Amino acid sequence: MSEPIRLVILTASDRAAAGLYEDESGPALAKLLKQTLGATLVARQVVPDDRATLAEQLCTWADGGEVDLILVTGGTGFAPRDVTPEATRDVIEREAPGLAEAMRAASLRITAHAMLSRTVCGIRKQTLIVDLPGSPKAAVENAQVILPVLPHAIDLLRNAPESEAGHRKLPGAQMA
Ligand code: MTE
Repeated sequence: MSEPIRLVILTASDRAAAGLYEDESGPALAKLLKQTLGATLVARQVVPDDRATLAEQLCTWADGGEVDLILVTGGTGFAPRDVTPEATRDVIEREAPGLAEAMRAASLRITAHAMLSRTVCGIRKQTLIVDLPGSPKAAVENAQVILPVLPHAIDLLRNAPESEAGHRKLPGAQMA
């Protein structure tokens, strides 16, 4: 990986946006990505659980061309106001189901409630958008699952697939 991952964190929460409680998931994710991958935090924002607001914010960042990765935390459950997956689907051009599948599979070993996570992951232009659950614990646990593949995923989006950083060859695989 050549340049550091340019990261944005978007917290979807009516209560945090209203100042009723402090967003802990956003800072926890920023710390995790900085410590493990050396990511650069470009922006962090808290918005209400509103589908149009979320979608508009995602588009602004993805279309600006300055962001590699957007982590969206919160609003992925079954409550009526949980609309993050719908907003993500509104804006992505290509889905990346493997990331969401891996997070749910790994999380099922921690809690059966992982089945209630409706997270969607996908790509808009050259930006990867990843939904994560809302609690700091769940957000970090889910993000940890996909950390190992993020450098390679972002290299591919930057059209620099020759960089194999973080790409593990299968045992016994022959080089062409
Ligand atoms: N995944 C992990 N790893 N750990 C958790 O504690 N909580 C679950 C699930 N995924 C959880 C998890 C719960 S309780 C819910 S409701 C869904 O994520 C969605 O969370 P959200 O509504 O906060 O977005």
